[in-house]
Amino acid sequence: MLADEVVDCHVLVIGSGGAGVRAAIEASQYGDVVLISKTLVGKGGCTTMAEGGFNAVMRDEDSCGIHFEDTMKGGAFLNDPELVDILVKEAPLRMGDLVKWGAVFDFTDSDEVAQRPFGGQRFPRTCYAGDRTGHEMMTTLVERLDGTGVETLQEFTIIDLLKDGDRVIGAMALSEKGELVILRADSIILATGGGTKVYDVSTNSSSGTGDGYALGYRAGAELIDMEMIQFHPTGAVFPYDARGRLVTEAVRGEGGVLKNSKGERFMKNYDPQRMELSTRDVVARAIATEIMQGRGSPNGGVWLDVTHLPREQIETRLPVMLEQFLKFGVDIRITPMEVAPTAHHIMGGLRITPECRTTLPGLFACGEVAGGVHGANRLGGNSLAETQVFGRRAGAAAGKAEKRQKKVDETQVKRQRDRLDRFMNGTKSPSRIRMTLQQAMWDGANIFRNATDLKKTLTAAGVLADRPLKAETARNLAECCTVENMCLTASLICRCALIREESRGAHVRTDIKQSHDAEHSPFGHTFISKKGQGIEKREVPG
Ligand code: FUM
Repeated sequence: MLADEVVDCHVLVIGSGGAGVRAAIEASQYGDVVLISKTLVGKGGCTTMAEGGFNAVMRDEDSCGIHFEDTMKGGAFLNDPELVDILVKEAPLRMGDLVKWGAVFDFTDSDEVAQRPFGGQRFPRTCYAGDRTGHEMMTTLVERLDGTGVETLQEFTIIDLLKDGDRVIGAMALSEKGELVILRADSIILATGGGTKVYDVSTNSSSGTGDGYALGYRAGAELIDMEMIQFHPTGAVFPYDARGRLVTEAVRGEGGVLKNSKGERFMKNYDPQRMELSTRDVVARAIATEIMQGRGSPNGGVWLDVTHLPREQIETRLPVMLEQFLKFGVDIRITPMEVAPTAHHIMGGLRITPECRTTLPGLFACGEVAGGVHGANRLGGNSLAETQVFGRRAGAAAGKAEKRQKKVDETQVKRQRDRLDRFMNGTKSPSRIRMTLQQAMWDGANIFRNATDLKKTLTAAGVLADRPLKAETARNLAECCTVENMCLTASLICRCALIREESRGAHVRTDIKQSHDAEHSPFGHTFISKKGQGIEKREVPG
């Protein structure tokens, strides 16, 4: 065997954010589970950084029907309705699990889970734990995981999936020291999160490098709607090192207002009804337009102002924001924040069924790496719900899969060994390649897009992908694999953005004149795999 170690299990879960840990908890009822993470379980990924909240219907005045409609409309009707129906119906149950397992959400004086308004929703349905909701969820999930017998492998990077014919039968991983480990499983769950680290300015932690999209694509899975990138309207712009850091939508949910350099609440010109609580695609474009047209703040953003709110409300509902900005030298109780759009979430991903099966047998996907739930624009707060609803579903379906003999084809392992040897003999610094890619994506595949820039960016991603990356030591091998994943993810985004010749949700093509609105679009999902790419046509509703 060419590997340093072989690990066998029934279910292998790749990724340790909210979806991965939820999937592992569920799968553990059916057999032995290994959860592998490139960071420390519960510490990396985006869930733990999520601030604002978890959407679930919790009141009689609200309904799953309204949550469904809000999600479909917010997603510019590109969402898979079956997945949305599951999301809205099961989110309250999964909230219930978290509360039962000890998560401390905020409660009202009448002892009900508190809910705040988030953009694009007709009911305040976002449950929260101050502005550290994801952290509270992850702490709870990891505690629950601890009692399940799931084996965790931390600080291991998956470098490729293992296949037997069409079936995915495991994965190959690198330890921190550069040892190659083979993992064989009856079912494999990809829960690797997103990848907006392919952009220069992003809310994602350093682990948001698009690994799952790249692993899935290379193995032959089909991905949908990879052009749909959510730019969160409000990221920090100053100081330089904090650029892109999330300024939660909860700030606007609590009553924060956006103003340009003239002191105008400019959202009245873009969505006079919903104002700051319009959907993210609309607010991000509005802010970008104000900045482009010269009405921005000194550091290239706009103002987000909560100074009119009671101090106590800021201190109790937005404590993380208060602390974060105090570190930047800004007291948000008396001074407005400067904010601008930042790459936040990939709505597209691996095509899944309601049981989270991908197009490859043996491979499941859940959480941000899967596509279809959010369509062309995600509602804030739907993601934390998605991690729990579809994490549980993936864990159950993978757990129920039958046990099989697994035959590892040594040529696949040899290919990876050769790849690693190439890195030891390469010449180009992976961090330089990463930064060049991030800048190219920021310049050419941002909120407003056109074919010329997208083609240029696609070419740049291709050229960078071909550079001979250099691992200074065995410890740097994983970084080389990650940078290759970033180049591939970036190229998938650009290719799909070129295929979708319309503006829809978060995807705006300034070079295309269009007469239809989102509801009457003749287009469905873009799709891309090693077999081919294209866009689905759909019946236009009358
Ligand atoms: O703004 C936020 O707190 C982010 C929430 C989300 O992306 O769901």
